[in-house]
Amino acid sequence: MKYSLRVLLILLVCVAGSVPGLARAQDGGEQPPIGAWDVCPTSENLPEEVFIGTVFGVSGSVAVYGEPQQRAVDLAVTQINGSGYLGEGTTLVALHEDGGSDPETSIAAMENLAAEPDVSIIIGPTLSSQAFAADPVAAEAGIPVMGVSNTATGITTMNDDPELDQYVFRNSLPESAVIPGTVASATEILGLEQVGVMYGNDDDFTVSGYEVFQQALEEQGVEVLREETFARGDVDFSPQLTNIINDEPDAIVVSALVAEAVPIVQQARQLGYTGPIIGGNGFNSPALFEQAGAAAEGVIVGAAWNVSNPSESSQFFSTAYEEAYGGSPDQFAAQAYTGAWLAAAAIRCADSAEPDAVREALAGLADFDSPLGVYSFDEERNPVHDPVAQIVLGGQFDLLTDETAAQAFEAAAAE
Ligand code: ALA
Repeated sequence: MKYSLRVLLILLVCVAGSVPGLARAQDGGEQPPIGAWDVCPTSENLPEEVFIGTVFGVSGSVAVYGEPQQRAVDLAVTQINGSGYLGEGTTLVALHEDGGSDPETSIAAMENLAAEPDVSIIIGPTLSSQAFAADPVAAEAGIPVMGVSNTATGITTMNDDPELDQYVFRNSLPESAVIPGTVASATEILGLEQVGVMYGNDDDFTVSGYEVFQQALEEQGVEVLREETFARGDVDFSPQLTNIINDEPDAIVVSALVAEAVPIVQQARQLGYTGPIIGGNGFNSPALFEQAGAAAEGVIVGAAWNVSNPSESSQFFSTAYEEAYGGSPDQFAAQAYTGAWLAAAAIRCADSAEPDAVREALAGLADFDSPLGVYSFDEERNPVHDPVAQIVLGGQFDLLTDETAAQAFEAAAAE
């Protein structure tokens, strides 16, 4: 990254401080209620500027996830700087590289950041397939990398060399930590006995989600009548859906990114299917109901976070995000925002911008009050906090309960 772009980024961070809703952190020195203040003393030895990199997909089909991620990091950075979290005289600067929508594009973005002289930690990339491709670049450069949306199995143990794995973190609950609870709740509430399954068979995350769904359904005693596959970029899912719907399943279970999830949901409804559709983490974007409209009502999705989370840190985050950007944050934004605060906490606790010191401090963070809940990393640098099960009701993600399920399916039946 050119020096002039760095200056521009610093200016942007300063200007963002005048965004409504961010004044609270800047004006009175009030501390954002993120559990980062008492984890260690204020740092004293940091340079004037500390750099974190991000690799989010802000172009192509992944931008529905990457744009809120990048906005959320900018919000956190503005609050961190406004509140003096890294000590007087130290400014945190986010260097953003567009990871695009493919593994190859994320490798190039990671290489650009790894070539920077002063990057303390990198947040991203957006997709698990991108993380598997690009995280080794950061690890081999000795820079810690933290996924904030990678949910496939095996992200933090991807390297042949376990020493390199020590550089790979994620704060995004894996599918294996979310889907079993979602399937158990859906089975109990909807009385599921038989389902049809669809999954993308060319993407690490969608394959991983499928495997976790398969196991969770088996554990719940739910029979899989049929499995169908598709690929990223497909647009016509009617052959697979027709086969599944002809079996008359109690639900359709889908592991897909949102670009494919939207037409799958729409085409299922067009084919006359009115029953439940259960998705994995790829469904977790407002793009699902914004683009699929009424067809998305009753879609069930597990998540790491829901906007109704009543905790002070979560409400603070949601209010600030809405005031800054004019719309509710989604789970991807909550995880990216928490990731930026975790990175800042590691830098503060390390009292150093050196990547190895930051890595060590990050691994030691625990009981960190965040919008995601009281947060810790486990010994394999995966997150430990509780998931939620959601249902689309009235064009938003609501918590899945007997009542919300009944309302969603009454509304769907009345369509
Ligand atoms: N959760 C999705 C993935 O891991 C975005 O690829």
